[in-house]
Amino acid sequence: MRLNGRVAIVTGAASGIGRATAQLFAQEGAQVLAVDLAGKGIAEAHKDQQHVATLEKSVADADAAEAIVDGAVKRFGKLDILMNNAGVASNALAELMAIEDWDRTFAVNVRAPFLLCQRAIPHLKSSAAGRIVNVASVMAEGTNFGLSAYCASKAGVAGLTRTLALELGKFKITANYLLPGAIRTGMTSPLWDARPDIADIWANKAALRRLGQPEDLAKAALFLASDDGAFVTGQGLTVDGGLMLRV
Ligand SMILES: NC(=O)c1ccc[n+]([C@@H]2O[C@H](COP(=O)([O-])OP(=O)(O)OC[C@H]3O[C@@H](n4cnc5c(N)ncnc54)[C@H](O)[C@@H]3O)[C@@H](O)[C@H]2O)c1
Repeated sequence: MRLNGRVAIVTGAASGIGRATAQLFAQEGAQVLAVDLAGKGIAEAHKDQQHVATLEKSVADADAAEAIVDGAVKRFGKLDILMNNAGVASNALAELMAIEDWDRTFAVNVRAPFLLCQRAIPHLKSSAAGRIVNVASVMAEGTNFGLSAYCASKAGVAGLTRTLALELGKFKITANYLLPGAIRTGMTSPLWDARPDIADIWANKAALRRLGQPEDLAKAALFLASDDGAFVTGQGLTVDGGLMLRV
């Protein structure tokens, strides 16, 4: 019970990494507010979880930070852990990228985590163990064709998180980010189910010769969110099975 008595928010929690993390946090004793878009089955995803409350909300809505952070505090009385996991990918060569796609990627991947952190800070200051865990990507450091908006946004998550760590350390709040590799989730499964050969390429590129599972990331998030990670701040934790070792 490494999160006994803690209150956590996990965004993008209807699927993949967010769903697995919300459930692991709850199993470890936390009360969790799990957030996702309307119509994504967030309530269904956690229907058997006694300690997971759910909220349908886009993190990109103008009132999202208020609705989510204040909603968690109203429901559970405090806030200890904020995990900004909701994210979107966009895929277009830079020359052809629609500005709407660029802006949507940044609205969800960078602007929303910033605003949620900003709204959460006063509550995290009151916590004995305030934690921010943001989800970036190995693409914060690497790149690929078509990923200009995604890579730039995830590099933004890294820079944002390191700065928060510096500013919030004196309040005993840690801020770290995860860099997932190739993980089988709602984001990747449609392509990998249709093209198992592509999934195999990603699996075989990793030193550990497999794709990541959402639980691999949930366990890393638990480390950063719990007392085990108390002296770790401003860091990116790569969880990719050794995908990025090879140049
Ligand atoms: N799967 C991978 O290989 C991989 C690799 C690197 C980074 N990531 C990152 O991991 C995070 C989680 O993604 P995942 O792989 O679990 O994918 P996923 O699609 O299974 O889960 C993402 C969830 O975020 C939700 N979401 C999207 N926009 C939202 C919004 N505006 N408001 C609220 N919720 C929203 C989606 O509905 C979805 O349920 C993302 O930030 C993603 O960029 C994933």
